[in-house]
Amino acid sequence: MCGIIARIGRGDAADTLLSGLENLEYRGYDSAGIAVQNGSGVKVHKCSGEVSELKADLPKAPSGNMGIGHTRWSTHGPPTDENAHPHTDTAGDVAVVHNGVIENYEVLKAELQSRGHEFESDTDTEVIPHLIDEYRETAATTEAAVRQAVATLEGSYAIAAIVDGEEAVYAARQGSPLVLGIDADEWYLASDVPAFLDHTDEVIYLEDGDVVVLEPDAYRITDRDGNPVTRSVDTVDWDPEDAGKGEYDHYMRKEIDSQPSALSNTIEGRIEDGEVALEGLPAGTFADVETVQFVACGTSYHAAMYGEQLLKAAGVHAQVIRASEYDSMAGPVDETTLAVAVTQSGETADTLDAIRTASGRGARTLAVTNVVGSTAAREADDAVYIRAGPEVGVAATKTYSSQAVTLALLTQRLAADVSGGATLEDVETMLATLEDLPDHVEEVLEASRAETLAREFLDSRSYFFIGHGLGYSVALEGALKFKEITYEHAEGFASGELKHGPLALVTDETPIFAVFTGHDDGKTKTNAIEAQARGAPVVAVCPDDHPAVEVADAHLSIPETHPVWAGLLANVQLQLVSYHAADLLGRPIDKPRNLAKSVTVE
Ligand code: M6R
Repeated sequence: MCGIIARIGRGDAADTLLSGLENLEYRGYDSAGIAVQNGSGVKVHKCSGEVSELKADLPKAPSGNMGIGHTRWSTHGPPTDENAHPHTDTAGDVAVVHNGVIENYEVLKAELQSRGHEFESDTDTEVIPHLIDEYRETAATTEAAVRQAVATLEGSYAIAAIVDGEEAVYAARQGSPLVLGIDADEWYLASDVPAFLDHTDEVIYLEDGDVVVLEPDAYRITDRDGNPVTRSVDTVDWDPEDAGKGEYDHYMRKEIDSQPSALSNTIEGRIEDGEVALEGLPAGTFADVETVQFVACGTSYHAAMYGEQLLKAAGVHAQVIRASEYDSMAGPVDETTLAVAVTQSGETADTLDAIRTASGRGARTLAVTNVVGSTAAREADDAVYIRAGPEVGVAATKTYSSQAVTLALLTQRLAADVSGGATLEDVETMLATLEDLPDHVEEVLEASRAETLAREFLDSRSYFFIGHGLGYSVALEGALKFKEITYEHAEGFASGELKHGPLALVTDETPIFAVFTGHDDGKTKTNAIEAQARGAPVVAVCPDDHPAVEVADAHLSIPETHPVWAGLLANVQLQLVSYHAADLLGRPIDKPRNLAKSVTVE
């Protein structure tokens, strides 16, 4: 998965392309490149490494009012200069950037080579400029050549191309996201809106099969066969400042700190007179549903565990399934099944595959996502937005909190429709205390001792996180975050499982972070004490007057609240522990090695 951008308009394109790529680096940062065109040839600049390295390599931004750019997460070929995009045809007249995977590239490459085309990279992408170049020899227009080229591709792609001597950008999408940005006198194309949000918030979410031509004073969208298509123009309600780092050293820290406002947005208008009111999902929406399957990956899976547990408490048959395991774990699925894709980006390939499989078996589908216009939002029968604002740091933080809250609200709608009940006996209290959650998160952020504890335990051998019930999902999330950005070994366990094997790993060099939600905490306390008896320092994450504070070696405090929200407050403390540990270890917090934010390959 990668990020692409294109721009055409007045003035030079290079600076806009480079800043746009910086906002797309969450999609990959193995290499970066741009190509611009100014009537005297297509100029390509690319290198392995991040966009900052590309900028440092460019003594002067090349001139040209149109161009394309790319930031890469390697799939075919290592992150070398040669494999960086843009790629060109043999003569260097056609330059292409691509996000996706061309599955039949080996066959196409062999055929092109046999006809004299010379290749310079290991990538699947490089066949595309060669194909466009070849079809240009016979096609009436370059647009027709692009259409023919994409018709020969199998797999997924969002591409943008520029051609020597032509005042146009050509683009197409199939299975990879592509958004058109419309400004007064310039057009943009990108994998995601933050790439051009500084310039415009007017967008068109392109559909699979769309072919786009941008010219200085017009844009044209056609289908695969060249028939004009009309797509609606949406206004994005994200603030450009949300997509930037502001005064912060890291996006992750900014995003942790922005959780109070993100949560306020998530909640706003969704509780009316003590009842949940989710837009587009009135009472009775799910009356035909008998089983709910949540499908998700990584952090979103941990948030989906909230949905599963709350529905089960209401007597609804619910499962959470790792999206990549859906085909083997789904069990019976039919039209009474609701498959809920929980995905921040809405573009995770495993999750999309799972809901497509569920839909193919007759299930109704619902996307719980942060990104309006994302593939999950468009493909699912319904969508609920978590409204967390753009998240750029690879480590998911504010979107976990907003997902869990959205799911807690959604499960009230589902429980009422499916079983006629509520998820919890004290649901009124739960909803009433939700209003306080943003302030409670603020309290945690202001008074956290996470940095001190991260420093104290920095030389540990492993880091364990335990919890029970909703606290278990928080323990898993705490461990994922820790390993993802510190590169240290961390594991999350259901509290009671510690003694069934993992206890063998416990020593005085393995701190145990124990999450207490205030509901059925006995198991966690007992198992934490057992680990402590084997030498492990125990950090209790709980309110000040919780009995665990007495026995723990250290304490991370959270405000008193309803047990459903306590886990989210504990998670904020654990996010801060991970952040500070990674910072103290000098890790590249926003861009952990080998990872990218949205994983669009299976
Ligand atoms: O965009 P998604 O929510 O579908 O992404 C799923 C996972 O790839 C993601 O949550 C990942 O685990 C996080 N980067 C972890 O912080």
